[in-house]
Parts: sequence; C-alpha cells; structure tokens
Amino acid sequence: MNATLERWSTRRAFILAVTGAAVGLGNIWRFPYITGENGGAAFLVLYVAFVLLLGLPVMMAEILIGRAGRRAPMQSLGYLAGLAGASRHWRLLGLFGAFTVFCILSFYSVVSGWSIEFLITAVNGGFAGRGADEIAAGFEAFLGDSRRMAFNHTLFLFMTMTVVAGGVAKGLERLNNLLMPLLYLLLVLLAGYAATTDGFGAALAWLFKPDFSAITPLVIMHAMGHAFFTLALGACALMAYGAYMPEHQSLPRAAGAVAVLDVGVALLAGIAIFSVVFTQGMDPGEGPGLMFVTLPIAFAELPWGALWLSVFFLLLLLATWTSSINLAEPMVATLQGMGLSRGKAAAVVGVSVWLVGLLSVLSFSALAEWRPLFGMNFFDLVTTIPTEIFLPVGGLLIAVFAAWIMSRQEAQAALGTGESGFRVWQGVVRWISIPLVAAVLVAGLL
Ligand code: PHE
Ligand code: NA
Repeated sequence: MNATLERWSTRRAFILAVTGAAVGLGNIWRFPYITGENGGAAFLVLYVAFVLLLGLPVMMAEILIGRAGRRAPMQSLGYLAGLAGASRHWRLLGLFGAFTVFCILSFYSVVSGWSIEFLITAVNGGFAGRGADEIAAGFEAFLGDSRRMAFNHTLFLFMTMTVVAGGVAKGLERLNNLLMPLLYLLLVLLAGYAATTDGFGAALAWLFKPDFSAITPLVIMHAMGHAFFTLALGACALMAYGAYMPEHQSLPRAAGAVAVLDVGVALLAGIAIFSVVFTQGMDPGEGPGLMFVTLPIAFAELPWGALWLSVFFLLLLLATWTSSINLAEPMVATLQGMGLSRGKAAAVVGVSVWLVGLLSVLSFSALAEWRPLFGMNFFDLVTTIPTEIFLPVGGLLIAVFAAWIMSRQEAQAALGTGESGFRVWQGVVRWISIPLVAAVLVAGLL
C-alpha cells in the first residue's frame, strides 16, 4: 500500500460508503431498545449531545488519520507517528480496533440472523392475522431455538465474509446506495402511519419530553457508547475508509451529512416503534427484542402489511450487511498486512467470529445462566463492554493521536479546512471531546 491508493470516484460515493457503515442495527434495533431501557427523552438528549460534541469531531479525527496516512489503519498510524517523531507503538491502536470489531461482529452477525429469520417468516405470511401476544411468544420461541439461530448466524457471516474475501464490497455498496433511500422512505411511511395510532402522542412525549431525573453516570455512559457505536467510531473502521477519501472533499461537511442521516434513521425508527409500544401497552424497557416484536405488529395493521414487512427486513438486512463488511474489513486488512492471502485472512476471521458468535446464540438457551462477569450473560456482555468501553477508549486514543501527536501540517492538510477551521476543530477535540470521554468513562466505571 502506498500513496497511490485509488480514491472514491466522487464525494457522494465517499459519504454513501461511510453512511453504509454507520446505518445499521445501531439505528433500528439498538437505538430504540437502549433508549427504552434508559428513560427515553433524557437519554436521547444525551445521545444527540454526544453525537455533536464527540461524534463529529472524533469522526473527523478518525477519517483524517486515514486520509493523511493513505494506508491501512495500523500502517497509517505507524507511518504518521514516525513522521511526527512519536512512538511507532501507536500502531497497536489499529490492533485494538481490530479486537473491538471482532467482538462487535460476533453478536452483530447473530442479531442480523434474527432479521433473516423474520424476513423468511414475513415472506411466508407468518405474521398475518397474529396479535401482539402471539408475535411476542413467537419471538421468545425463536430465541430458545439455538439451532435455527445458529443457522442464520452462519448464513449471515458467510454472506459477509464472501463479500470481504472477494473484494466486491464496492458492488454491494452500489446496490446499497440504490436501495437505502427506499429504507428511509419506508421508515417515513411507517412513522407517518404511527402518527395515526393511539400511542403516537405518548411515543412523542417519551422521546422528546426529557425527565432529567432519569440521568445517572451509567446512563451517560450508555449514551456515549451508543453515539460511538451508531457512528461506527472508535475501532479504526472509518479510518480505513478515510484512506480512500477524495482530495478536495470537505471532511466536516461529509461527517455532518453522515451524522444527520444516521440520527434521522434512528429517530424515525424510534417514533414508529414507540408508537406501537404505547398503543399496545407494552414495556419500553423490553430489551433487545423490542424492534422484532413491535414492527411485525405495526405492519400487520397496514394494507399489504406482509409485503411491506418483507421489504423492510430485506432492506434492514442490506443495511446490516454493509455495516458488517465494514466491521470485518479492518481485521482482514490487519491479517493481510501480516502476510496472509485475502482469502485465508477472511476464512480465519470468519471461523473465529463464528465460534464466538455461537456463545451469543447459546446465551438464549443452554448458556442463559452462565454469567462470566458483572452478573451478565455472554450476549449481554458482548453487546455492552465492546460498545461502551472499547469504542470510547479507542475513540479517545484516536482523538489524542490526531489532535496532539500528529504533525500539524499533516493534520491540517487532511482536515482540508484551512487555518481557522483547523484551529476550531483542534480546540474542540483537545479541550472538549478528549476530557469529556475521559470523564464519562471514569464516572461510569466507578
Ligand atoms: N454503526 C453500525 C450500526 O449502527 C455498527 C458499527 C460499529 C459498524 C462499529 C462499524 C464499526 O449498526
Ligand atoms: Na448507526
């Protein structure tokens, strides 16, 4: 790899690629249930604040490093550290990122497998005429069926690793770019439909009327972790994309566009899902099953519901597919950098992620009572610790590297904003983002 890496053909292509990584389960599955578990609007306020104060500046930091290095993450970090006369050990940050995405992909694949199951059920009209209780019971039964879940997990991971191994990610991205607007459209329709239901008012109040007494250090940490997760930040995954960023593109503008699209999808999903929750008298803190139980209920009430539901899960699957490719890429690139062929690297990553993913699968049946740490079972651990601790720690180090370690010329050229824009960005990262992440991590862990 060297400075002649190919670039994305247009500015739009770069934004769409980053959006492909960002928009996924984090918006449609995780955002609603995490918000439901953490008190609604107060959590939403924190999360949006973190997107603005941390997400945007740190996203610029992460992409900027890739853009300045024009290499795979580990190599970029080592190269830029060398230029600045700093320790080459900064490369290890790339390794830490690879470990983080390893953990995340192991459960991401399992939950994407749930979408496969729901897609198949929806196509077969399996939700038609079923009431809320029946749909919830069906989901519970599915969670207990470890064989089916393992099969879907295997299938999804296989889909991901074949694309990564074949290097056809670009083709998939094009398809994704074509179909993503449809996902937005469906979510808008769904939110529009939600506005006609009885629970709509309660859903809006739940999402937008904050009760600040719900905020604790732990809630703040959940919100920060979610901001990193949903923006795909802190694991050097976006750094990898930064290496392909066109020369004359504004980084702040690109980051802003991605953040707006990402938060928009989450809000639409939240409005749709909480309207169902309050119409049906369900518990907003229902947990990871929230989206899977509410959306089939909502669609069942619509004309052509089974068709729309199938289309929805198909689009969701496509969105999670592009995210999981972005999750797998840094690991495969790292192994390739250690001398493995691309195919072998993809196989090694695929098999190891698959094995660890099985522990998540079994967390709903055989291993439900196995609580290795903090009283959480494996699935709860792997959906919490990497997202809420590893990503923020990674993001913190990325921010330190970009704003304190890298040579000023390199950083400023890669940010591409000129003198005053650079000063503002650097000031925000140095004096707001870095201390904020550190403070929230310390407070949350105590
Ligand atoms: N941002 C993705 C989502 O919201 C998840 C992700 C996290 C992707 C970290 C890449 C890196 O679903
Ligand atoms: Na996201």
